[in-house]
Amino acid sequence: MEKREIERANLKVSSIGLGTWQLGSDWGDVSEERALEILQSAVGAGVNFIDTADVYGDGRSERIIGKFLKNNPSNSVIVATKMGRRAPLSASFYTYDNFASWVDRSRENLGVETLDLTQIHCPPDDVFDNDDVYDALDRLVDEGAIKRYGVSVETCSQALRAIERPNVSTIQIIFNAFRLKPLDEVLPSAKEAGVGVIARIPLASGLLSGKYSKDTIFSPNDHRNYNRNGEAFDVGETFSGVDYEIGLEAARKFAGLQSEVAPATAAIAWILSHDAISTVIPGARNIEQLKGNLAAADQIALGRSINTGVVDIYDQYLRSAIHPRW
Ligand SMILES: NC(=O)c1ccc[n+]([C@@H]2O[C@H](COP(=O)([O-])OP(=O)(O)OC[C@H]3O[C@@H](n4cnc5c(N)ncnc54)[C@H](OP(=O)(O)O)[C@@H]3O)[C@@H](O)[C@H]2O)c1
Repeated sequence: MEKREIERANLKVSSIGLGTWQLGSDWGDVSEERALEILQSAVGAGVNFIDTADVYGDGRSERIIGKFLKNNPSNSVIVATKMGRRAPLSASFYTYDNFASWVDRSRENLGVETLDLTQIHCPPDDVFDNDDVYDALDRLVDEGAIKRYGVSVETCSQALRAIERPNVSTIQIIFNAFRLKPLDEVLPSAKEAGVGVIARIPLASGLLSGKYSKDTIFSPNDHRNYNRNGEAFDVGETFSGVDYEIGLEAARKFAGLQSEVAPATAAIAWILSHDAISTVIPGARNIEQLKGNLAAADQIALGRSINTGVVDIYDQYLRSAIHPRW
C-alpha cells in the first residue's frame, strides 16, 4: 500500500485508510465481530490510518478500535478521532476544559496514553476564527494528551481558514466525484502548506457504487433514511448533499465511464489520482466492500483516465446545486 507524507503531521499514511462511522452507528447494524474482522483485514492489507469519532455509536467505534489495538499491540496504526459533537453545536462549548474531558474519554475508549490525531468535528463556523480554540489545542499537545490536531470541515471556506493556522496538521473534507469544489482552492492550498487532506465520504455514502435504485430502502437507523434532507445533521454528510434521484442518474453515468473495475473502486481511484490527497477513508460494512475499496490502490492511472468524464458529469448534473453551497 502506497504511503503518503503529511508534512505538518510528520506522518506517513496509507493512501487508503478506513472510515469507521459504520462500526459505531447510523448505518444499520454492524456486529462487533464483523467490525473487528474489517479492522483486522484492513490493517493486514497495509492500511495504517483509521478514522473514528467520539460520537460514532457514542464511543462504540472507538471502543472497538481500542479492543483491536489491544489485541494487536505490535501494529503501528494511526488512529484519528474527533471531538466536539457530544455537546450542543455552539461555539461556547469549544473550551480547553471540554476538550480535555473529551480527549480523556477518547484516550480511555481507545486505550492509549496520547491520541495520534484529534480532529475538531465539524464545529460551528465562528470556531474557525477563534484564537482561543487553537491555543487550547496547542496546550493539549504540550501536555501530551494529543500528538497533533486537525479539523473536519463542512465547507471549503472553513478548510482554507483552518489551513492558515500554523499547527493544524490535517483537514478532513468531503471530496468525491460528486463534490469537486475542493479542487478549486482547498487542495492547492493544503499542498502548498504541507497540510494533510483526508478525503471523506468518497463514495457519496455508497451512491457512487451504482448499486442503489429509487426503490432501495435504507433501514430506519441508517442516516440515508433519516437524514436525507438534513433532519439530524448537515445534509452534505448524506449522499454528499446530492438529491437522491439526480444522484442515481449521475451514478449511472459514472459507472459508464469505464468497464475495468467496479464503480466504487474507480471512484476511490479517481480521488487518489489527486496527489494533494493524503488518504481517502471509505467506510465498509463488510469484507467484500473493504476489498473493493482497497483495490483502488492499484488503479490510480485508471482514476486519472476518467477525470474528464467526472468533470462532465459534475457540470451536467451537480455543479449548480452543489458548488455554491459548500
Ligand atoms: N463530519 C465528519 O467528519 C464525517 C462525516 C461523515 C463521514 N466521516 C468519515 O468518513 C468515512 C467515510 O464516509 P462514509 O462512510 O460516510 O461514506 P462512504 O465511504 O462514501 O460510503 C460508505 C458506504 O458505501 C457503501 N460501500 C462501501 N464500500 C463499497 C464497495 N466497495 N462497493 C459498494 N458499496 C460500498 C456501503 O454502503 P451500504 O451500507 O449500502 O452497503 C458503505 O456503508 C466515515 O466512515 C467516517 O469515518 C466523517
